[in-house]
Amino acid sequence: MLVLDCGGQYAQLIARRVRECRVYSELVSHSISAAEARARDPRALVLSGGPASVYAEGAPQVDPGLFELGVPTLGICYGMQLMAQDLGGRVERTGVSQFGKTEIRADSSADSELFKGLPPQQTGWMSHRDSVAAAPTGARVTAGSPAAAIAAFEDPERLLYGVQFHPEVVHTPHGTEVLKNFLYSVAGAPPAWTAAAVIEEQVERIRAQVGSERVLCALSGGVDSAVAALLVHKAVGDQLVCVFVDHGLLRKDEAVNVVETFEGHFHVPLIHVEAQDRFLARLEGIDDPEDKRKAIGAEFIRVFEEESNRLGKIRHLVQGTLYSDVIESGGDDSVAATIKSHHNVGGLPEDMEMELVEPLRLLFKDEVRRVGEELGLPEQMVWRQPFPGPGLAIRIIGEVTRERLEILREADAILQEEIRRAGLYRELWQSFAVLPAIRSVGVQGDERTYGYPVVIRAVTSDDAMTADWARLPYDLLETISSRIVNEVPAVNRVVLDITSKPPSTIEWE
Ligand code: XMP
Repeated sequence: MLVLDCGGQYAQLIARRVRECRVYSELVSHSISAAEARARDPRALVLSGGPASVYAEGAPQVDPGLFELGVPTLGICYGMQLMAQDLGGRVERTGVSQFGKTEIRADSSADSELFKGLPPQQTGWMSHRDSVAAAPTGARVTAGSPAAAIAAFEDPERLLYGVQFHPEVVHTPHGTEVLKNFLYSVAGAPPAWTAAAVIEEQVERIRAQVGSERVLCALSGGVDSAVAALLVHKAVGDQLVCVFVDHGLLRKDEAVNVVETFEGHFHVPLIHVEAQDRFLARLEGIDDPEDKRKAIGAEFIRVFEEESNRLGKIRHLVQGTLYSDVIESGGDDSVAATIKSHHNVGGLPEDMEMELVEPLRLLFKDEVRRVGEELGLPEQMVWRQPFPGPGLAIRIIGEVTRERLEILREADAILQEEIRRAGLYRELWQSFAVLPAIRSVGVQGDERTYGYPVVIRAVTSDDAMTADWARLPYDLLETISSRIVNEVPAVNRVVLDITSKPPSTIEWE
């Protein structure tokens, strides 16, 4: 299914909801022509909401030829209004706007396909100023609402449908059922898109792309590179070589887990580069956060290049690019041939002329996780919280030394263990320990100590753009605090970071 993005805040969400209904969907620009759309051979089209009035100057328009394709089309909010405008209906500013929850009444006499099997009254989330005053020629009105008489229209002859409310948001409790009615009954699209189907399809694609040649993959410890590597391994077996550059800045046991999982469990050919000393040497004397990032990034590239040179000429490189990256960088019209420059640590040299293999390119993060689970990746890797490429180095304020790394790693491991034990790991966006560059006085036994404090940072967030500090239970905080000061000798104080983002950032550096 193609979702035409008319600029609304929910376009991506529509694509995700449709996929949750197990129908594959892709986001495309509203400017797609009817011929281009036909070439993609979609089962259905959805026109998303949009920020504008259909009459506003520069308002997103769609090719009216789309409505002649005979492909079932659903317009949502602005998308519905566009259909009305283009198909002989009328859109008006009635002076009554609707924002928020609204009662939707389905017309039981209208024999609706969209509302089939649903209660006659339901709550729908609305967000519009203009309203459809006349449905497109030939379409029946199948639902109304207090402020917009036409809350839905349907034209089963021409396969054109519109809803003023947003079925994709959680505030429309029966929204998913409306979408399912459209997808399954109207468009006849079977709910066949599952993790297993994704794996099958990607395995085919990877085989077709790489043939009998070798493929290189950089493993980072994160879920994306892990799932990408496993997919490629499933497709071409030992033609894949993974390089895991161990920079010594991961959490306790993470490096061991990567090696055990890939080499031990999945039997993926793996080169474990133990570069901890090199990275430490490189970080010596550096205390500025950006300098740390640069140093680590540069060292990573150097180590990776050395290893790949050793392996001889390999043409293909696996990259864990996600669909959200593709959307952000302006769509999927081109197949990227060279590596993009915005990659972070774990990012690879820009001038490596390799052909990318990107098996996650069409997947959202939660779908990557489902594929990971289906492939048998251990739970702690599948559900790993986001972790920065420069790792613990940017959670140690000031210089990164072996001793300070060890202190932070131990304190952080206790924090992780207790957060998991409390069942909060998945609920939190991130939770970790920070080691500031100060010391304070304490007393342990009969002795005065002059030790490090450790900061607990735990946040909730949807996308890391904003975040709130997590209200961890006092008992949990007490356990974490007493365990850290008892089990990590250099630490004599534990403090809690209670700042949101903004004004803080999630990381301390
Ligand atoms: P901030 O601290 O800016 O972080 O609120 C937002 C998100 O980005 C992650 N982060 C990084 N990830 N390399 C990364 O790969 C980095 O240098 C880096 N700095 C921050 C951070 O963990 C959070 O999820």
